[in-house]
Amino acid sequence: MSSFMHVVFLAAILAQHQIGVHSFISPQPTIPVLGRSLPPSVVSSNVVHCRTSSSSSSSSCLRMKKNRGERKRTTKIMSKDGSSEDSAQIAAAVEQLQIQLESTDPSSELDDIAHHNYPKVILQADKLGRSAHAQILRILPKPKPLVSSTPEWKRLQRHAVENIQSMHLRDMLQDTERCHSMYAEHDGVYFDYSRQQATLETMDLLYDLANKQELMPRIRGMFNGEKINFTEDRAVLHTALRASKDQAGTVFVDGMDAIAEVHEVLDQIKKFTEAFRSGQITGYTGKRMRNIVSVGIGGSYLGPEFLHEVLKTEATGINSSLGYSLRFLANVDPVDVERTCADLDPEETLIIVVSKTFTTAETMLNARTMRQWLWDFMGDDIDVVRKHVVACSSISATENVKAFGVDTDKYFFRFWDWVGGRYSVCGAAGAVPISLLYGFDLFEKFLEGARSMDQHFLNAPMNKNIPVIMGLLGVWNSSFMGYNSRALIPYAQALLRLPAHIQQLDMESNGKRINRFGVEIDYPVGEVDFGEPGTNSQHSFFQLIHQGQTIPVDFLGFVQSQHDLLMDNEKLSSHDELMANFFAQPDALANGKTAEEVRAEGCPEELVLHKVFDGNRPSSSLLFPQLSAYVTGQILSLYEHRTAVQGFIWDLNSFDQWGVELGKKLALDVKEHLMEARNNEVGDHEIIADNPATSRIMNYYVKNSRDAVRGGGSSNPVVTSATSVTRKTHKDFFPPQIHDLGGHSGRLS
Ligand code: F6P
Repeated sequence: MSSFMHVVFLAAILAQHQIGVHSFISPQPTIPVLGRSLPPSVVSSNVVHCRTSSSSSSSSCLRMKKNRGERKRTTKIMSKDGSSEDSAQIAAAVEQLQIQLESTDPSSELDDIAHHNYPKVILQADKLGRSAHAQILRILPKPKPLVSSTPEWKRLQRHAVENIQSMHLRDMLQDTERCHSMYAEHDGVYFDYSRQQATLETMDLLYDLANKQELMPRIRGMFNGEKINFTEDRAVLHTALRASKDQAGTVFVDGMDAIAEVHEVLDQIKKFTEAFRSGQITGYTGKRMRNIVSVGIGGSYLGPEFLHEVLKTEATGINSSLGYSLRFLANVDPVDVERTCADLDPEETLIIVVSKTFTTAETMLNARTMRQWLWDFMGDDIDVVRKHVVACSSISATENVKAFGVDTDKYFFRFWDWVGGRYSVCGAAGAVPISLLYGFDLFEKFLEGARSMDQHFLNAPMNKNIPVIMGLLGVWNSSFMGYNSRALIPYAQALLRLPAHIQQLDMESNGKRINRFGVEIDYPVGEVDFGEPGTNSQHSFFQLIHQGQTIPVDFLGFVQSQHDLLMDNEKLSSHDELMANFFAQPDALANGKTAEEVRAEGCPEELVLHKVFDGNRPSSSLLFPQLSAYVTGQILSLYEHRTAVQGFIWDLNSFDQWGVELGKKLALDVKEHLMEARNNEVGDHEIIADNPATSRIMNYYVKNSRDAVRGGGSSNPVVTSATSVTRKTHKDFFPPQIHDLGGHSGRLS
C-alpha cells in the first residue's frame, strides 16, 4: 500500500471517529489487514471493501500489492457508520500505520505515488483539524523537491548570471553558427529565436531541465488522456478536439472513446450548419435566420472571437459569410447587449449560448436578456426559444439547458469536462458559431492546422520542436532572466484579438503558486501577457519596450497578406511596408543604439542620452505563409502547447483555475447587499459590508444610482424590458435624422 493510501486510510478513520492524533496510545493486540496489523474492533467496525475492477486506480493498487508481495485482492478500509469506537484502539491502529510508513523505502514506487497524490492527502488532512494535519504531514513522505532545487535548475541560474548577463545581443547576433542554429521550421511555420538572450549552451541546459522534468513523457500523457488536471480529476484533451476521425479508438477517458465522441458532435454540427445555411432551419415566424449572436465569456468567447476576426477577411471566409453576421456578447454590462443587438431583427437571429457549466453568472444573465429580447418581439412562447436558441455546453449541464427552454435533441451541442474553457475553441464553442457563419468546411481547415502542429509537438525532437522551444524560452525569460511580462505582436490586423485570447489562455493556466505536489513554489512563474497588432502597438506601448523595461516579444508576420495593395506611384506594396516593421523592430530591440551612434548623427549633446537605446531586449520572430484558417489552427496549437510546456517545467497544474473563484463568490455577497438596498422602499438602508471602505463606496453607489434604477423615484419604478434597451432601429432611421433613442440621463426608459 502506498503512503498516500495509508494516509487516506488514516484520515478516514480519524474523520469517522472525530479523534485527534494526541489520543494515540500504545499498540493493542492486532489482526493483519493488507499486510498491516489492526485491532480487531477497528477491522470489524469498518467495511472491508475489495476492489477488483480494471479501473486505473484499482490496477495501480494491484500493482502496488504485487510489488510488496502481499495478497492478490486490493482492500480499502473505511468506516461503516461512524459509530463510536474505542479511541485507544483506533490510536493503536494509527500507530501501526505510522510504524509501517516509517519503514517504507523512500525510493520505492509507493512513495512516488504518495508524492503525486500529495495535494489530495493534504486536502484530506486539512479536514481533520490542526493536530491531525500536523501528524499526517509528519508521517507523510516529503513531497518531491521543488524543481528550483534540482541541479539542472541551479546550473541554469548560474549560467544566467555568469554567462548571459555579461553578453549583449548585438554581439550574439554576429555569431553565424548561433544564428543558423537558432531557428526551427514546421509545415510552413518559420521560427527564429536567435534574438533571445540565449546561447546554444543555454538551450542544452534547458533541454536538460526538460528531461529532468520528463517533459516529453508528460506531453504524451496529456495526449493519451491521463488525468493531469488532478485537482479536478480530469484529463486534458483539447488535442482530441482536432484529432482525425481515423484516430478514434486510441484515446479513452473513463471508458469513453474521446475522439469518436468528438466526431459525433462535429458531424452533428455539420448537419445543423447545412440545415441552417440552406434555409431548412428557420426562425419562429418562418423567416430565414442570418444573424448569429454568440453569448459566452472567457474561454467560451475569446477563442471563437479571435478566429472570427481572422476569417472575416480571409478569402473563403468573405465569400462564405456573405449575407450572415456574427456577434459576440460577453460582458454582463447591459451596454454590451445594446451594442450587440440594437440593429438586429430578432426574427432573423439565432442565439448561441456557450457555457461549459451553463451557470456562469454573466453568461446566464445575458442569455436571459437575449431570450427576453426574442420574446419581446415575437411573443412569450417557449417555441421562440426552441427555434432561436442553441446551447453549447457540457453534458453534465443538460438539465439546465433543457430548463432554459432549449431543444436539447436538435439545438444542443455538447462538450466534455476533459476540455477546459480556454482550450475549447476547437470544440462546439468555436465550431457552432464559426461554422454557421463561414460553413463547416472552413472550420475543418482550422482543425487541420491545429492537428498539424499537435503532431509536430508530439513527435519532433525537442531541439526542433517549436512549441517546446517557445515554452522553454518562456521559462528561461521568466524564471532565470527575471522578465515577468511578455508581448505578442501580430503584424496582421486580422489577428487583433489573438493577444486577448492568449492572455486568458496563458495567465489563467500558469498564474499559480502551488506546484503539483501541493507545495508552494519559490520561483517566479507565469507572465503578464499583452499585445496589439503591429504597427499600432509601435505607436502605443513600444516606447516602454525600447527604453523602459525589458519585455520579451513574439513578433508574428506573414509572407503574404490576406489582401495586399500596390498602388500607383508606391514603390512597395502595403504589406511590404507592414513587414518592414516586422523585420526592423526585433533588430532595434536587440541591437539598440549607442551614444557614439547617436552623436555620429549630429545629435545635440544634451539630447544624446535621451536617444540612446540599450538594446539587448529579447524577441522571437514567427513567420507564416498567409493568414488562413489552417494557419490560425497552427498558431492556436502553438500557443496552447507553449503554455503546457511551461506548466510542465514549472510543475504546475496548468489546467485548473481556482484563482477566479474568490471574485465570483464575493460578487454574490455584494449582490445580496445590493438586493437588500434596492428592496428597501424608504431608501435609508445602510449597507454594512466586510470593511468600512467597501461599505462606504457601496453606499455611495446605491445612493447616487437610486434614481437611475427607479426612474421616477420609489413611487414610480420603471419596468424595463429588454426591448426598451435593444431595438432594431438603424434601418428605420435612414437617412439619418434627428431622433431620440434613449440615454435618458442614465435611466433605463
Ligand atoms: O473565468 C473563469 C472561467 O471559468 C473560465 O475558465 C471559463 O472560460 C469562463 O469562466 C466561462 O465559463 P463557462 O464556459 O462555464 O461559462
